[in-house]
Amino acid sequence: MPVTEPFSIHALELGPMENFVYLVHDHATDRAAVVDPAWDVPAVLALAARQGVRITDVLLTHSHHDHINGIEELLASRDAQLHLLGEEARFWGRGLDLPTLHHGGDRIELGETPIHVLHTPGHTPGSACYHIGDHLITGDTLFVYGCGRCDLKGGDPEQMYVTLKDMATGLPGGTIIHPGHNYSETTTSTMEQQLEGNPFMHFDDSDRFITYRMHYHDSHRDSPYGPVCKGDEMK
Ligand SMILES: [Fe+2]
Repeated sequence: MPVTEPFSIHALELGPMENFVYLVHDHATDRAAVVDPAWDVPAVLALAARQGVRITDVLLTHSHHDHINGIEELLASRDAQLHLLGEEARFWGRGLDLPTLHHGGDRIELGETPIHVLHTPGHTPGSACYHIGDHLITGDTLFVYGCGRCDLKGGDPEQMYVTLKDMATGLPGGTIIHPGHNYSETTTSTMEQQLEGNPFMHFDDSDRFITYRMHYHDSHRDSPYGPVCKGDEMK
């Protein structure tokens, strides 16, 4: 008998960079968490109103402007707890108003929905993914058939290589990923599809991965990204 999930995840695509802002709704309590509030806070509040939920938590995948530029406006209108990794807060260096600082492995309780925090460095030092049931909100760590840049301040392609390897081995193939940007032909995908068609998942050598991420990919591939056959990454 199929088990109905005790939560739902709603996506809004907002802003000029095709960001996804997510609303995670815990059905038992009608609490909600907003992931990466940015660009159009009234649209986020309207979605919450339509779903009949109370926003109690704000989760950040990382501190880049395009993922956080709605924080003040949202927190001014909702009494919500802000969560991010301690490492990202140190990298960001901004005085935040009493956020909860996490480590990878922490668990956030959104009513009766547990949210597991993964530390996934590479795009930024304190990038996080949020694992909720069979779903993973991936920020700019993993896109559908892509991954986040590692050439911006705090980026580290060697760390990204390790992070993606850990995700490939540590997450079930059926895990549904929800990325931070709409850069692909599809808005969500499974880990299994990513292992098959995401070129960043095809490397077994960190030096080749770093070359591909830093010097090859962006000049050879345009979004929307589709699947790439293994072996075709640097052709
Ligand atoms: Fe970013």
